[in-house]
Amino acid sequence: MNTIPVVPFGGYLHPRSEDTEPDLTRVGPRTPGGEYLRRFWHPIAMAAELGDKPLPVTALGEKLILFRDQGGRLGLVHRHCSHRGTSLEFGIISERGIRCVYHGWMYDIDGTVLDTPSEPPGSRLKHSLCHGAYRTREYAGLIFAYMGPPDAVPEFPVYDALTWPEGNRLVAYKIPTPCNWLQMHENAADPVHTAYLHTIVSGVQFTPAFGALPELEFMETPLGLLCIATRRCGENLWIRASDVILPNVAQFGTGVVDGTREKTALCAAFTRWITPVDDTNCLVIGVRHFNDAIDPERLGREEDIGLGKLDLMGQTDERPYAERQRSPGDYDAVVGQGPIAVRADEHLSSTDKGVAILRRQLRTGIREVQAGKPPAQPRRYSGGSVPTYNNETILRVPEIAGDDRLVRRDFGHRICSLALDCAELPVGERQAHFAREVRRMQADGAFYDPLKEKAGA
Ligand code: FES
Ligand SMILES: [Fe+2]
Repeated sequence: MNTIPVVPFGGYLHPRSEDTEPDLTRVGPRTPGGEYLRRFWHPIAMAAELGDKPLPVTALGEKLILFRDQGGRLGLVHRHCSHRGTSLEFGIISERGIRCVYHGWMYDIDGTVLDTPSEPPGSRLKHSLCHGAYRTREYAGLIFAYMGPPDAVPEFPVYDALTWPEGNRLVAYKIPTPCNWLQMHENAADPVHTAYLHTIVSGVQFTPAFGALPELEFMETPLGLLCIATRRCGENLWIRASDVILPNVAQFGTGVVDGTREKTALCAAFTRWITPVDDTNCLVIGVRHFNDAIDPERLGREEDIGLGKLDLMGQTDERPYAERQRSPGDYDAVVGQGPIAVRADEHLSSTDKGVAILRRQLRTGIREVQAGKPPAQPRRYSGGSVPTYNNETILRVPEIAGDDRLVRRDFGHRICSLALDCAELPVGERQAHFAREVRRMQADGAFYDPLKEKAGA
């Protein structure tokens, strides 16, 4: 942190810093952060964007072409032809692969050169190189890419919240955002902003319940960290515990809670990635979940979710500027930090613990990759999906005047510890166990009780 002199009207004296965390923020090939990020799968487009023409995309600072060949296979290749560099956005999609228009070279989806038609018979040229290509995977309406070393492909992580409950409906969305990926991801590790930005300062953007100041706790998990915000809503306590998953994934509860209805939902309303496009642009890309556990009243709006839109206020620049100034949302607050937020000029406060943990975890991962070790990949159930910890829990827990902060803290801690402790159970069984145990704790009055504390002391 830069030292700032305590001098009124002293703007002149302040340091002017550039990006001071390039290892965390830079994403291009051969940069420390870029090498680390290349060890994971990242969504780069919505499947719905891909028609019968090649789609130019940029990811991790690399210009690429995404296409689906006539055989139905996805291809993701370097944009510029290996012959003399024409963009394959003008390529002809074939039964097998894509053909460059300039001199007809043809590439398979793995970069194999299938044809160099202007070469004489018997030419070995096409066997002497492979065009740059990456593995892809289509899942839940999103197209993912793995852009790391071809001999170290990690398993594709299917998070349990994507698969539970049975019949969970996933709707894909993608919001191009003009700032560095990290500051947008850090927004997920900063739950107190939901009270200020989304309610107290800007006016109610989600529901008035967000305006109650939450008790915060940050628990490290096998995936990253769980950011726990526990609020009182009248007779009820409400936990909004959000997964922040390394390197760039997060899950959240709904934005529609008013706190009146009890709920024990160990699952998510949003699973989203922040995919770096380049150093100063990113994609907020993911899926909204529709199921009765997370949104029993079905208040989500599917028709407002998709390319450049989300059914949550303030996630894009679509609103008129004057309105965004009156009531800025996440998009405005985070893009407003600048193209790359300058960490040396920050003054982290007590509520920024989650941001600090996230940065430490990312630095550790980057150092591991620099040392030649693969970064830790998520643990799985025997069934194959990855246990996550996101939960939205609302229960009737009576207020204890004077001690209610401790009640909230204890409630959030116990419930989220339970979510961590039952991670080995298979999907479905785990969520049922969680709901049962939460109710048992409620019935037993297991949460903080000053009289019990005194008796035990
Ligand atoms: S530039 Fe592509 S075939 Fe010549
Ligand atoms: Fe937010």
